[in-house]
Amino acid sequence: MVMLQTPRGTQDLLPETTRKWQKVEDLIRNLCDVYGYEQIRTPVFEDTRVFKRENDSSDMVNKEMYTFSVHGEDSLTLRPEGTAGVVRSFVQHKLYGAAEMPAKLYYLGEMFRYERPQKGRYRQFNQFGIENIGMKSPLIDAEVIALGYSIVKALGLNQVKVLINTLGDDQSRAAYRGVLKEHFQGCVQELCEDCRRRYEQNPLRLLDCKVDQEHPAMQNVPSLKDSLTEDSRQYFDQVLQALDDLQIPYEIDPRLVRGLDYYTHTVFEVVSTHPQSGSQATVFAGGRYDGLVEYFGGPQMSGVGFAMGLERLMILAEAEGVKLEEPRRLDVYVMALGEVGTLPLQLATECRAAGYHTEFNVLPRSLKAQFKSVDRHQTRVAVIAGEAEAAEGKVNVKFIDQQKQITIAQQDLIAVLDRYFERGECE
Ligand code: HAM
Repeated sequence: MVMLQTPRGTQDLLPETTRKWQKVEDLIRNLCDVYGYEQIRTPVFEDTRVFKRENDSSDMVNKEMYTFSVHGEDSLTLRPEGTAGVVRSFVQHKLYGAAEMPAKLYYLGEMFRYERPQKGRYRQFNQFGIENIGMKSPLIDAEVIALGYSIVKALGLNQVKVLINTLGDDQSRAAYRGVLKEHFQGCVQELCEDCRRRYEQNPLRLLDCKVDQEHPAMQNVPSLKDSLTEDSRQYFDQVLQALDDLQIPYEIDPRLVRGLDYYTHTVFEVVSTHPQSGSQATVFAGGRYDGLVEYFGGPQMSGVGFAMGLERLMILAEAEGVKLEEPRRLDVYVMALGEVGTLPLQLATECRAAGYHTEFNVLPRSLKAQFKSVDRHQTRVAVIAGEAEAAEGKVNVKFIDQQKQITIAQQDLIAVLDRYFERGECE
């Protein structure tokens, strides 16, 4: 016999947990609806080129992708994130041709990254994300942050802060890359292997290094702010102004560059400040991307979005003491007394068709044992299918909270239940 377990970095979500997840997902869907976002579902695997773009310097693309090829066919990759697939789909289906822009899309689903697992970091995890594609405005950047922020707040998380920065336009980033190259030129060999690669490929990524934080050259790194073009500076100021006006508190973090290569202009991370959030404190993160739509063969159109790690959201909700589980009460439990054949199943099916949460007694058990089940489920109404009553086409109905029992014709059962559940009448 082999005892098999979940692969490293993955987890089973059992009913007790999925109940909480569904509640959070409902809240997310509702707020997306209010903000005018509609759901998009793209494949869990894509052509590898969807994620691996030329000269990409991110760890996610270079180290963490689950890439495979089956029967010699083209290389496929399990999606490590949602944005690229959504933009691929936006272009493939020419959503850019719609009369109303921007396209406002959201997704919920599994992502896969080959990472070192720890609390809040998994190899299979779930993201809720939004992408707003087709219009470029600081107001939209702020609106996107506002949606993520309102979800976190609606959930009851209070200990969070928004970190924000701008990477500017192409010109600003090109200028800053030059500044960084010059700054690190004399000491690049003292940096970690990843940083040496980043230095060549995309020096901006150097700011993201977790290994060399203490290196003197990292400590006094020039600020990107000084390389921004006037347009980029103005764009960022307007994003900040909009956040001020929406009363969303933020901190400008000049070192925030984000781990993915496609960002331009605004980038942000919303992190938990709760002491138990640990090292994986980022709840949601995102930014604007100017070049992705064109990369996939679409017109020159910009997008902005974020993704929220649902596992992290749940960990933080628990740390902040947010109550997500609602006690599940059963509406009806159909009991069986004596030889009543399939009657309990029939009655339960009728009750369920009328929308009542119903269970029924399957194997013969004593009345006492059946009442224990009624209690355990915190049942509101027990329907007792007894042999003698069944012979006359009748059943007993016991309203548990009221401790009142009546005998009725079987065909009146749903009407009796309706009167009780709608108006509290026990007759
Ligand atoms: P990201 O920062 O790579 O961005 O991931 C977003 C969020 O996903 C993180 O803040 C975290 O909550 C969660 N997350 C990431 N990796 C893991 C993991 N291994 N285990 C658990 N949770 C994780 C993106 O994915 C971009 N696509 C966001 C975006 C959308 N930018 C623009 N639009």
